[in-house]
Amino acid sequence: MERTFIMVKPDGVQRNLVGEIVSRFEKKGLKLVYAEMTQVTEELASEHYAEHKDKPFFKDLVGFITSNPSFAMVWEGENAIAIGRKMMGATNPKDSEPGTIRGDYGLTVGKNVIHGSDSQESAEREIALFAGGKPFVDYEKDEDKWIY
Ligand code: TYD
Ligand code: MG
Repeated sequence: MERTFIMVKPDGVQRNLVGEIVSRFEKKGLKLVYAEMTQVTEELASEHYAEHKDKPFFKDLVGFITSNPSFAMVWEGENAIAIGRKMMGATNPKDSEPGTIRGDYGLTVGKNVIHGSDSQESAEREIALFAGGKPFVDYEKDEDKWIY
């Protein structure tokens, strides 16, 4: 089963969108195996967004993500990575379709509510970074037989 790293960014936490976002992923049929309210440090943010370190928005991005607590999660399910990206919508909310999380709740690229892994490789890297060594809950859900 595929796992993806999803995080409600500080703007989403402050705007009380955690419950709504968790609810969307639950209703989709994905399974929550890890969740933590976390204050992202500058070191963790720089590592997490290392691919963007030379971009002009990097400093603001790290400043934003470390400015307040975030809500980090790992969701499990068939095609969880691609489905998570679809549910989030395009990076810039001006391009995100209505019905997506960024399309429904974001206005600006700098405060676009949610992060989600974009590939198998980044999912593994981000899960290790945020949840490495932490306990994952392995459990069966009866409803899974109505999803798979
Ligand atoms: P990116 O990995 O390209 O997008 P995504 O979050 O959809 O994987 O960029 C990481 C974050 O950096 C993005 O969510 C918001 C921020 N960002 C900007 O502030 N300005 C920009 O021009 C871009 C491309 C991203
Ligand atoms: Mg990205």
